[in-house]
Amino acid sequence: MSAIASRDDTPLEKRTLYWHFNRFLERYMPERLYQRSLIIVIAPVVLLQGLMAWVFLDRHYETVTKSLSQSFARDVALVIKTWDNSPGTEADLARVLAMANEDLALGLTVEKKSELPPATNAPFLSSVHPKLVRYLEGGITQPLWVDTVGKSGYVDVRVLTRDAFVFRFLTDLDRAHASTTPIFIAWMIGGSLFLLLIAVVFLRNQIKPIVKLADAAQSFGMGRDVPDFRPDGAAEVQSAARAFLKMKTRIERHVEQRTAMLAGVSHDLRTILTRFKLELALLEKSPTVHALSEDVGEMQRMLEGYLAFVRGDGGEPTAATEIVDLLGDVADDMSRSGHPIVLNTPRKLIVALKPDAFKRCVGNLVQNASRFADHVEITAVHDGDYLRVVVDDDGPGIPPEQYDEVFKPFVRLDVARNQDSGGTGLGMAIARDIAQSHGGDIALSPSMLGGLRAEVRIPI
Ligand SMILES: Nc1ncnc2c1ncn2[C@@H]1O[C@H](COP(=O)(O)OP(=O)(O)OP(=O)(O)O)[C@@H](O)[C@H]1O
Ligand SMILES: [Mg+2]
Repeated sequence: MSAIASRDDTPLEKRTLYWHFNRFLERYMPERLYQRSLIIVIAPVVLLQGLMAWVFLDRHYETVTKSLSQSFARDVALVIKTWDNSPGTEADLARVLAMANEDLALGLTVEKKSELPPATNAPFLSSVHPKLVRYLEGGITQPLWVDTVGKSGYVDVRVLTRDAFVFRFLTDLDRAHASTTPIFIAWMIGGSLFLLLIAVVFLRNQIKPIVKLADAAQSFGMGRDVPDFRPDGAAEVQSAARAFLKMKTRIERHVEQRTAMLAGVSHDLRTILTRFKLELALLEKSPTVHALSEDVGEMQRMLEGYLAFVRGDGGEPTAATEIVDLLGDVADDMSRSGHPIVLNTPRKLIVALKPDAFKRCVGNLVQNASRFADHVEITAVHDGDYLRVVVDDDGPGIPPEQYDEVFKPFVRLDVARNQDSGGTGLGMAIARDIAQSHGGDIALSPSMLGGLRAEVRIPI
């Protein structure tokens, strides 16, 4: 989204030809690295070969075919002329036949016929046929008949000469055109396919480690462990993978230290608070004692809040969870404290996530909604690759310019302070932290009910 926005923000004077080319590539290149690399390897080869084929066919093939058909037509014309200029006796015919077959290898036979077969159509896309016909007609005045496809690999030329003789020349087509072309094209296509095969095999192996690294980073980002990930592939990919592993270890160590420290602190402080409460209970009842125990209670709540915030998801393992039941629990908890909640869910919705943490996340949003509004609705849907849980309320809402603000720890808006409900301003921060540890996020927007809409989106 932001990438697209920044691309569109490019000032007009910076939109060079190179910029347009890049934009074109970005828009029409396939998304995946493997396909992109294949195109990068194959496209230049195909282009080059196409160009070569075009030059070859256009120049070499055409010129060679032209001179071959020309010389073939001249040979035929020579034979016909020799016959025409002779007195036309049997001996002359034998001489002409000997010349055509032994000296010129034209495959001549002579038939006593007074007409030619019906005219044939020029074969589709043939470049020999029209040339041959043109050159033959240029050199021979008598009626003639040409066929280049009837007998494959041969050219069949018949000329009706005087005295109702048909001279039939049946020779290899090679005499009239460049026969190396199909071999050249076959080699070119074969070579391209071979190259494509090599590229497919090698690229697949080169791309695999990058895909594995991306998957591992994504899993870790979603709070899942990646136990069997090993650096693999090209040096740069391996070094990125090692950097990822180092970073992962540091984050895990950091989380472990934090959890250990928290366990210690919370244990110590809770012990003291409990002692406080006990001592207060033993004191005689008086307004001061009452106020003191209220303060201690609030202190305990705040302590729990801080601890929950720093604990995050507390290293809870991911498990397949029935979301409908989980949301039912959240709604029941709130309903028990006098805030009925409307629940819109499908009948069944099982998603892999950290159940306690996720419950706290939605619970915090629902708690806020119930505090500020009378009517609260929870909606859960499985939307493509995402689980979406939406909490709507009909309270005062939050001005859009403060959407980012309320996610910061210890931030409470004036509405909340006026109600003086004793919150710490950590609820939203905790909720977002949990959503993000699942690889998702929380978005705020105005609700159709009139208040605030908080939407948790988690990839599944
Ligand atoms: N549904 C809502 N309608 C109106 N304002 C809200 C709503 N949810 C949150 N807010 C505002 O956002 C602020 C931050 O919420 P957050 O849950 O982080 O803290 P809190 O509810 O005040 O305290 P805590 O949740 O730690 O007990 C609230 O103080 C309130 O001003
Ligand atoms: Mg709250």
